[in-house]
Amino acid sequence: MNLPSHGSNPQHLFKAMGRSLPMHFIDFSANINPIGPPSTLKEKWNDFYREIMVYPDPLAVSLKDRIAVQEQISVDSILIGNGGAELITLVARFLSGKKVVIIEPAFSEYETACRANQCEIQYHQLKGPNFALNMDDLRSSISSADALFLCNPNNPTGIQYPKSTIISILEECEKQNCYVILDEAFYDFLVDYDSFIPYINSFSKLIIIRSLTKMFAIPGLRLGYMAAAATIITELSALQPHWSINTIALLAGELCIQDNEFIKVTQSYIRKERERLLSFFKQYHFVVTSTKVNFYLLRDPNLKEQIDFFDFLLQKGIIPRHTFNFPGLDGNWLRFAIKSKEENRMLMEVLKEWRYLH
Ligand SMILES: Cc1ncc(COP(=O)(O)O)c(C=O)c1O
Repeated sequence: MNLPSHGSNPQHLFKAMGRSLPMHFIDFSANINPIGPPSTLKEKWNDFYREIMVYPDPLAVSLKDRIAVQEQISVDSILIGNGGAELITLVARFLSGKKVVIIEPAFSEYETACRANQCEIQYHQLKGPNFALNMDDLRSSISSADALFLCNPNNPTGIQYPKSTIISILEECEKQNCYVILDEAFYDFLVDYDSFIPYINSFSKLIIIRSLTKMFAIPGLRLGYMAAAATIITELSALQPHWSINTIALLAGELCIQDNEFIKVTQSYIRKERERLLSFFKQYHFVVTSTKVNFYLLRDPNLKEQIDFFDFLLQKGIIPRHTFNFPGLDGNWLRFAIKSKEENRMLMEVLKEWRYLH
């Protein structure tokens, strides 16, 4: 069975499983803000229409200026991308043929993009259910690598690694001349996140990737950015297709990143829903990762393999993200996004039904 390698677009999952998509379903497989895009975006939407007659600014000056002020870095240290995914592709092209270490489990595009660019890939596998990251275990891999991919907070586990561990990784990589690609696609769901962006000034090999599609619920628009030393940004921007970020995405990005109130409301909503869900999982004896963000991994400890559980949920119109293509998870966990209160309630009802039967 060749299941899709990403969440969302559930029609492809059902097709691969030889089933038809049910009339009613809830898609828990994409980690998008359940509140939807900020209302300011809807208010401005009609104004964006006339902008489609103009080519997008290939230098994205206006959006970069805003990010530079917000993150207190130089505009030369910023590259805007057609989603974080494009930036990952550019990094992999930049690392073409090099030796890379991927800390797994992690977003599958690191591997896909590195493979497409003939990188030699080594996996550093973290073990569940805690998926703890330890610098000493990594040291020998770093010594022979050109680059290391790390996702914090981690997709798919939702776990936030300790700041001190990341700093010791950055120090070791700097010594070993090894790039660190630190993917912060979900950083803004954390209430107390201490960003690593200021560290681009002290660690010359640090590349940070951010996505705007998750927090601002705009995956269809495609927008992300990268922060790194200006020399790295210059090399990577030379690999980027011209006009790769469309005008509406640029305008939307400017609006979104200023909306601190929206971010706060989201963080508070996600925290409350997460607490409600976690206490339910405990009560009904499901194992869940200690997530700090808007998604989590879940498994039924009574089963060795989760495929029957996955199947049951799909039949009930509940669509989690399978984990067959996450090395080390191999389908033995299911990932769920935190959705609206009502959708989360419906998930809990179906899980109760499952528990009653098993
Ligand atoms: C960890 C991580 N990084 C980057 C991305 C890419 O996001 P986008 O291209 O939508 O900005 C994703 C998407 O799921 C992700 O999970």
